[in-house]
Amino acid sequence: MGSGRVGASIAFLCVSNALDDVLLVNRNKNKAIGEALDIANAIPENSKFSIHGTDDYSQISGSDIVVITASVGVYMKDRTENIVLQVKMIKEIAQKIKQYCPSTIVLIVSNPLDVLTYFFQKESDLPRFKVIGIASSLDTSRFRYLISETLSVPQSSIYNALVLGEHGDSMVPVFSGVTVGGNPLFSMIDSRDSITEGVRSYWKKLRSFKSRSQFGIAKNTFDVIDSILHKKEITIPASVVLEGEYGENDVAMGVPVKIDQNGICEIQNVKLDDTESSFLKKSSEKIRNYIKSIHT
Ligand SMILES: NC(=O)c1ccc[n+]([C@@H]2O[C@H](COP(=O)([O-])OP(=O)(O)OC[C@H]3O[C@@H](n4cnc5c(N)ncnc54)[C@H](OP(=O)(O)O)[C@@H]3O)[C@@H](O)[C@H]2O)c1
Repeated sequence: MGSGRVGASIAFLCVSNALDDVLLVNRNKNKAIGEALDIANAIPENSKFSIHGTDDYSQISGSDIVVITASVGVYMKDRTENIVLQVKMIKEIAQKIKQYCPSTIVLIVSNPLDVLTYFFQKESDLPRFKVIGIASSLDTSRFRYLISETLSVPQSSIYNALVLGEHGDSMVPVFSGVTVGGNPLFSMIDSRDSITEGVRSYWKKLRSFKSRSQFGIAKNTFDVIDSILHKKEITIPASVVLEGEYGENDVAMGVPVKIDQNGICEIQNVKLDDTESSFLKKSSEKIRNYIKSIHT
């Protein structure tokens, strides 16, 4: 749903890897058809799958996975800028999914990510483990990249890099478990401040060079779709409505989850140091406040 930059990039990966049939649903029908016609030329010769575009939601009926990348407009300074309209949109989409494919797995990509994951799950009545917000894995890719650039080491030498919490300014890079070449990251850096700031503001830096990000989130989303369809378990940080995990209720935020063919099968506990725990508490409070601001 949504065949803009991100939706089209995810579709391109799915189609070019012959993952499954893809349907692009867009508010503007012509955009969906145009992207589908373009991406269709990336179907491998031996693929049995195809891609089509439409503005007709009823065609999603029978979908195994729905990926939501729809967005009413572009935010400039903060992911929550269009929060009221985005929540309205996600509730409308939730009603369509309830109507046409109520047993699907839903991957939310649209922003503000955690707030939309929360409202989609509540509005759709889908089990919370079938509604997965994909963003913390992208933030983790950015965290790994910045560690690698800061220390001039390959990403393959970095283990246990993880970002939790809000997909926003309060996100929490977890430094305490990270090792680089077998040594604790803490023994190689003076402070966590500059990498933390770099991860949180990565999108702003990127936007000073190109309009918006698309490829990192596309690959992270593709990996989840691939693991679900091919029944390969994957463990990533992702947003999910919490019911007591990490001491949180009535909020969705990025936590480590194991995903199998049915959606999330486990929320994992990771050890955090005191700084990380207190940052995570602040992050959940921030998301909860956004959620409450919509209720009132
Ligand atoms: N989770 C992450 O880590 C992450 C990373 C990057 C981006 N994002 C988010 O992903 C979303 C998409 O980004 P983008 O750059 O692809 O934006 P974009 O290029 O503006 O695409 C959004 C698309 O959604 C369509 N749309 C709007 N309302 C719709 C509806 N109700 N049903 C179906 N389609 C609808 C728009 O249609 P029109 O053609 O009619 O305008 C547009 O084609 C944004 O919310 C962005 O913030 C998330």
